[in-house]
Amino acid sequence: MNKTIIVSNRLPVDLKFDDEKLVVKSSTGGLATGMKSVHSEGNGIWIGWSGLAQEEVSEELQVEVDEALAKEKCIQVPLTNADIDNYYHGFSNSALWPLFHYFQAYTEFEWNHWKSYVEVNEKFAKVILEHVNDGDTVWVHDYQLLLVPELLRKSNPNITIGFFLHIPYPSYELFITCPWRNELLQGMLGADLIGFHTYDYVRHFLSSVSRIKDVEISFNEISYGNRIIKVDSFPMGIDYNRYHDAALEHDKYLEDSKSDFMKSLDFHNKSNEESKLILSIDRMDYTKGIPNRIKSFEYFLNKYPEYKEKVRLVMLAVPSRENVPQYQKLKRETDELVGRINGQLSTISWTPVWYFYRSLPFHDLIDLYVSSDVAMVTPVRDGMNLVAKEYIATRTKENGVLILSEMAGAAKEMHEALIVNPNNFEQTADAIKTALEMPQEEQKERLAALQKRISRYDVERWAGEFLKALEVAKNTEPIQVAK
Ligand code: ADP
Ligand code: G6P
Repeated sequence: MNKTIIVSNRLPVDLKFDDEKLVVKSSTGGLATGMKSVHSEGNGIWIGWSGLAQEEVSEELQVEVDEALAKEKCIQVPLTNADIDNYYHGFSNSALWPLFHYFQAYTEFEWNHWKSYVEVNEKFAKVILEHVNDGDTVWVHDYQLLLVPELLRKSNPNITIGFFLHIPYPSYELFITCPWRNELLQGMLGADLIGFHTYDYVRHFLSSVSRIKDVEISFNEISYGNRIIKVDSFPMGIDYNRYHDAALEHDKYLEDSKSDFMKSLDFHNKSNEESKLILSIDRMDYTKGIPNRIKSFEYFLNKYPEYKEKVRLVMLAVPSRENVPQYQKLKRETDELVGRINGQLSTISWTPVWYFYRSLPFHDLIDLYVSSDVAMVTPVRDGMNLVAKEYIATRTKENGVLILSEMAGAAKEMHEALIVNPNNFEQTADAIKTALEMPQEEQKERLAALQKRISRYDVERWAGEFLKALEVAKNTEPIQVAK
């Protein structure tokens, strides 16, 4: 029987050694959380990096690592410390990530990083080829592995290759600044189907291909040599039922108790009964607009002082890519901003911003989603943003308002949210007020429309549609042009 192999840099589990003891954690990030449910229900394997450096894993420990990964139907591509520095922190996260998110000033093109990127993509292709058989499907994910589709095709043309990009695809003007733009496109064009979250990203990609490569493009089909490559948009969904059911369970549980996390926030105590909670959850990443969000909240409190002592912003940021200098800078900036606003505005009984720099277990995340009145998802650039969808899925009591940035791919499908430009503090501050004052009936109507759409187009359907389109793409014969 043919199988589907998922390939991404990050596996759904992240391994660490703590005093020689192996600790297995769920990975954060939309790719891992989204694909996890697709993977657990399928019969295929997932190939990727375990989070460990090869140097950390002795022969004895390797057995333990392999066992932990086998339990999750995962196979690792071993990376060395040098690979992690140059391919992961380097080319992937100091060149491609900022470039594709329009942070050109953060983009560093270094020859050594590029060399390592090529080598690690080859390592991935080698491991995949050891596990793939003719007729199998390989689904490659994201910007860390742009060269893999072509490497696979060169070695085995009898497999079906899909590629999905989880981040934005930038405009041609930006993409051409990359010294290795040709090689990157060539790599992606090894796939039979190339998917993006939105139609805008498809357009930008086709524009780059048409200007850089000598190809024919008609609608969303690229004629390349003797092949047809399809390109389309597939807005990624979430495992809606997982979040919705967890929220329903949480409601039952809360009848007689409250979770440790909310207890620690001490939010439900008498003096805070009137108080409202605004939630913000992201990886600590400069694309997420964290400083802008804090400044907009500060602007809101200054413009509408009657809300002082009545509203809190609970901001959860999970540590991410901490070896990259721009992420360290963002962490410092966030610490300072939170310190400043809390220092200036706090009273004895009220702290405006509650800031947590850590990852949280699933039930605590649900606890926060369920307990908040408003969610602020205001990235300055984001491929999709699954947090926005998770928040909507956990609203079980017909209330809750989402403030969503127009720069997130999710805004293309979530029109009933309050859509803002995250660089416009006044507009965002006004949206906070609108959200807090929105009549219950309007909240209910907006939520119903959002929930209907997100529950229908969930991650299972998203993966199903991509794989169906991939099969069609593989079987599409090139059109013979009459001479
Ligand atoms: P990205 O993929 O850029 O990180 P997304 O919003 O698409 O952004 O996905 C983030 C995922 O990580 C979501 O599934 C969210 O629930 C999860 N997540 C974010 N912050 C935390 C946290 N502090 N603890 C646990 N999970 C988190
Ligand atoms: C985004 C990227 C993913 C990545 C995730 C977490 O969602 O699209 O490819 O896995 O962020 O980042 P990390 O660098 O920790 O894998």
